Amino acid sequence: SSSAKFFVGGNWKANGSTASVAKLVDELNAGTIPRGIDVVVSPPFIYIDYVMQHLDRAKYQLAAQNAWIGGNGAFTGEVTAEQLTDFGVPWVILGHSERRSLCGESNEVVGKKTAHALAAGLGVIACIGETLDQRNSGSMFKVLDAQMDALVAEVKDWSKVVLAYEPVWAIGTGVVATPEQAQEVHAYLRQYCTKKLGAAVADKLRIIYGGSVSDTNCKDLSKQEDIDGFLVGGASLKGPAFVTICNAAG
Ligand code: G3P
Repeated sequence: SSSAKFFVGGNWKANGSTASVAKLVDELNAGTIPRGIDVVVSPPFIYIDYVMQHLDRAKYQLAAQNAWIGGNGAFTGEVTAEQLTDFGVPWVILGHSERRSLCGESNEVVGKKTAHALAAGLGVIACIGETLDQRNSGSMFKVLDAQMDALVAEVKDWSKVVLAYEPVWAIGTGVVATPEQAQEVHAYLRQYCTKKLGAAVADKLRIIYGGSVSDTNCKDLSKQEDIDGFLVGGASLKGPAFVTICNAAG
């Protein structure tokens, strides 16, 4: 079980244009967000400046979608955690399954990136999750253990980590995990954290669910005891739908 503060992230991925971002920001600003929860939106790097200047930051915080594994230097095309901190971006998403599979980020790389970002002062939304093959072949818990072990090996202070469970088969597919499927894994992850990090850390850790979350399925998911919020992809590109999801606290 959990005593964690509800957390919703909107991962815009590589979507948007100046026009659509301006429209989305207007829609978000018009929305009502309950007090006492964390809502974070994550635009592509190039739109962060605009969003920072125009989004109502009494309601919404910002996250980057990635950061370099180390500090500034000769790393063409990368953005560092230090630069995000300098710019006033408080959060970063790390280890998203798209970066793991398309950019070859291993468990170890994600663990090291997480530690570096935390040391630079960022909060980290750390993503894990199994593929359908792994689930069907019975290796799901082994896969999740290995992803968690790599984080545990590197992270000293978990107070600024949000753990996002995103089953790969549910991402962008419209096939959302059932509340029972999600709860089973969230409870497993909390148990893992209790064992490895202690009950005090595990109880406060936000474990959020991602994968085809919508304004219609969010309420049933959020009722589950160990689901502390969401990481939303597609539905975060529609202001009213995302605001509805933000209002779904269990
Ligand atoms: O990071 C959120 C994401 O991977 C889920 O995407 O489009 O299935 O909500 P989507």
